[in-house]
Amino acid sequence: MVNKIKRIGVMTSGGDSPGMNAAIRAVVRSCAYYNVECVGFYRGFQGMVEGDYMEMDARSVRNIISRGGTILKSARSKDFLTPQGRKKAANSLSKAKVDAMILIGGDGTFRGGKIFSEEHGFPVIGVPGTIDNDIFGTHYTIGYDTALNTVVEAIDKIRDTASSHNRLFFVEVMGRDAGFIALNSGIGAGAEEILIPEEDLGLDRLLASLERSRKSGKMSSIVVVSEGDKIGKNVFELAEYVTKNLPDYDSKVTVLGHIQRGGSPSCFDRVLASRLCVKAVELLLDGQKNVMVGFVNNQIESCSLVSALKEKHDINRDLLRISDILST
Ligand code: F6P
Repeated sequence: MVNKIKRIGVMTSGGDSPGMNAAIRAVVRSCAYYNVECVGFYRGFQGMVEGDYMEMDARSVRNIISRGGTILKSARSKDFLTPQGRKKAANSLSKAKVDAMILIGGDGTFRGGKIFSEEHGFPVIGVPGTIDNDIFGTHYTIGYDTALNTVVEAIDKIRDTASSHNRLFFVEVMGRDAGFIALNSGIGAGAEEILIPEEDLGLDRLLASLERSRKSGKMSSIVVVSEGDKIGKNVFELAEYVTKNLPDYDSKVTVLGHIQRGGSPSCFDRVLASRLCVKAVELLLDGQKNVMVGFVNNQIESCSLVSALKEKHDINRDLLRISDILST
């Protein structure tokens, strides 16, 4: 390996996701393995702006692989959005003698990393960590699998009470502008309908489908609504509209919210985080920069930050068809 990198920084940024700690651990332990120093910056870009960091060695990440959240904390830094803030961050990194940064986060994090590397010629590597799974260049982001399991477990519980009371439940899940969580958790939990931002199925179709369900003998139903869905203004107005048009239904709304971001990471997320971050360190030591590591067809690959940001990771539309067939 061509090794000009002597000291690597790591941070977590944007919405936290289960498996970020496993990712930090893998960066720190890989650095220790390859005899490279490692420092952890607190609160994402904000810690870089303020020069708020700690030295990390292999023992400083003991027993964190199983913990949700991020020991380095996370933030969405306003200062880093300005050229002055980014200049401050460049000065802090130079003062801390950091040669390259590993940025664990979502598209906002990669946008920040890209502009920072362009302005200051500073090497960065992106690691996709977000429950939304909305990043091009990887089939899975760290935290998505755990979030799916959290959602399915919650909907299973809602199903129990929905069935006892013959009710219709609208369950709102996270995902920002992407429907990955809704689509996959909806199929996993056997939802009657799944509403996602990528596909506007229309209110009439929803009413017709719920009416059909009722007539076919279904006593309770679950509609999974992605928070970015545009069919209703929000999940409460959607539920109100449906109840007005189908008065036989007794409807309830549950917004799952931030429980989807917490909890101990699944084995899949721990292994994914470990594989991605060993690769991230190895790429830097090989002289690569400004790329994102991703999980594609069970292999760890990399693509430029530019394409990770420019292109879109689309949902698998066949899953909608599967959901339709299985909710008959
Ligand atoms: O990007 C992760 C995510 O959890 C989205 O699913 C959600 O829209 C957003 O973050 C919520 O952000 P905050 O925690 O700042 O409210």
